[in-house]
Amino acid sequence: MANRAPASYNRVSWAYDFFLWPFEKLVLGKWRKRFAGMAAGSVLEVGVGTGKNLPYYSKSAKVTGIDISRGMLDKAIKRSKMQGIGCSLLLMDAGDMKLKSSSFDCVACMFVLCSVPDPVKALQEMARVCKPDGKIIMLEHVLSSNRLIALWQKIHNPIARWLFGDNINRDTNGNIRKAGLKIVLEENLALKDVFKLVVCSPNKKRG
Ligand SMILES: C[S@@+](CC[C@H](N)C(=O)[O-])C[C@H]1O[C@@H](n2cnc3c(N)ncnc32)[C@H](O)[C@@H]1O
Repeated sequence: MANRAPASYNRVSWAYDFFLWPFEKLVLGKWRKRFAGMAAGSVLEVGVGTGKNLPYYSKSAKVTGIDISRGMLDKAIKRSKMQGIGCSLLLMDAGDMKLKSSSFDCVACMFVLCSVPDPVKALQEMARVCKPDGKIIMLEHVLSSNRLIALWQKIHNPIARWLFGDNINRDTNGNIRKAGLKIVLEENLALKDVFKLVVCSPNKKRG
């Protein structure tokens, strides 16, 4: 599948924070605090975007963020400089990370698995770079188990894909299983089970 994410997110990067602003106030700020608060040690945020989660990580965390969109990443770099947040921000594809295996205590992603072309590959890469006793934290919107909501998501998916290169009908739990990760915590956050917090173990042996 062609990767439309870089072009789509480069196009919207200037307005991304502006459009999210009301939702940040309503729910996202609270979710970001919880999501980033679960991460400690060496942390890799995949699809760091404009860096909205960066201020929420613990000061003691050593954060690396990657993103495939230059436009989004530049915003994150600007935010980290303006807010004095020490982190490393790199242009990189989640499906082909130029990072050492078993090198992060924690790998995190928020609203990213919907836009990568091959979510199973991205999840396998996340597990590869995560230490065997590390954790993978995801906050994502996924295909609902409710048939009516799922039907709505399937009908509207072509519009979301066309506008943002974003899929709103991804079976993320199925993809997590296909990638071989082990779910250790799953919590529904909103719209029944559309918005979810999922924590996984990379499910691999110590090297
Ligand atoms: C909806 S935004 C979420 C940004 C941020 N995580 C947040 O919570 O605001 C999705 C991000 O994932 C990035 N992305 C999409 N596909 C990617 C890939 N294959 N590798 C790395 N980043 C990717 C996009 O460029 C975009 O910045």
